[in-house]
Amino acid sequence: MVAPVCMSLSKEQFQYISELAMEQAAIVLNPGKEYLVVSRLSPLARSSGHESLGSYIEQMRREAEYSETKKLAVEALTTNETLFFRDLHPFEALEKKLLPEIMARRASERRIDIWSGASSTGQEAYSIAMMLREKFPELGSWNVNILGTDLSGKAIEKARAGIYSQLEVNRGLPMPFLVKYFDKVAEGWQIKPELRKMVTFRQMNLVDRWEGLPVFDVVMMRNVLIYFDVPTRKRILDSIQRTIHPEGVLFLGASETTLNVVDNWGVENCGRTLLYRVKARMAEARTLPN
Ligand SMILES: C[S@@+](CC[C@H](N)C(=O)[O-])C[C@H]1O[C@@H](n2cnc3c(N)ncnc32)[C@H](O)[C@@H]1O
Repeated sequence: MVAPVCMSLSKEQFQYISELAMEQAAIVLNPGKEYLVVSRLSPLARSSGHESLGSYIEQMRREAEYSETKKLAVEALTTNETLFFRDLHPFEALEKKLLPEIMARRASERRIDIWSGASSTGQEAYSIAMMLREKFPELGSWNVNILGTDLSGKAIEKARAGIYSQLEVNRGLPMPFLVKYFDKVAEGWQIKPELRKMVTFRQMNLVDRWEGLPVFDVVMMRNVLIYFDVPTRKRILDSIQRTIHPEGVLFLGASETTLNVVDNWGVENCGRTLLYRVKARMAEARTLPN
C-alpha cells in the first residue's frame, strides 16, 4: 500500500523550493504559491516512497546541485497549459501577412525558420505545421524548419510522440484538421508522420546558454515570460534579438509585452495581434538584399 503523503510545507521548505525554481529555471514563486508547490510535488514525493513532502524536500537538499530529483521537481513546477491554435489571431497574422512577406524575402534561399520557444507539449508548433500545409502547399518544396523547445523533458517527449487525448484535440483544433492530419491510435490521436517530420523538438532551458539555433524568421515566445522576473525577461528578449532575422517577427502571449522591460523592440498592430520587431535593426534590414 502507498503511504499517505503529509501535504504540509514549512515556510523554510517553501523558501528552499522557490530558490531552487529560481536558480534552475528562473521561475518566480512568490509567497502565496505554497498550494502550487504542494499540489505539484506531492505526487513526486508519493511515487518516490516518501511519507511526507517534507522528507522528500529534505532528501533533495542533500543531493547534488543538478540531481535528477531536483530536475524533475523543477519540471513539475512548470505550467504546461497550451492548446492548438491558441488565441487564433497570431496564426491569422502569420497566414495573412507574415508568411507571404517572408516567402517573398526568402524566395532565393527557399528556407524558413520558425521557433516555438517554450513549446510545452507541442500544440503550437503543430498548429503552425498544419497551417503551412493547409494554406501554403507550395512550401512543400522549401526547406521549412519548425523548432519546438521546452524546459520540460516530459513535455518534449509528448510533443515528439505527437499523441493527444480526445480532450486535447477538442481544444482549438478545427474538426477537418483532426480528420486530415491525425491518426486514431489506442491512446487518442496521433499527428500523422508527414506532419511530425516538419517539426523538431528539443529540451532547452531558456536561461542556459543558447546554442545551435539558426537565424529565425518567426519566434513565438508565448506565455512563458510571465513566469520570470524583469531581468530574466530582458535577458531572454536580448537573446532573441541576437537570433532573429533583421525583419523577423516575435510573438508574445496576450498578457506579455516588451514595454518596461527593453526598449529596442518596436511593436506593430496586425489584426488583433501585436507583432514585435527589433527596432535598431529595422533600418538596417531595409538596406539588406533579399
Ligand atoms: C504555459 S506554457 C506555454 C506553452 C505555449 N507557448 C503556449 O503559449 O501555449 C509555458 C511553458 O514554458 C516552459 N518553461 C518554463 N520555464 C522555462 C525555462 N526556463 N526554459 C524553457 N521553458 C520554460 C514550461 O515548461 C511550459 O511548458
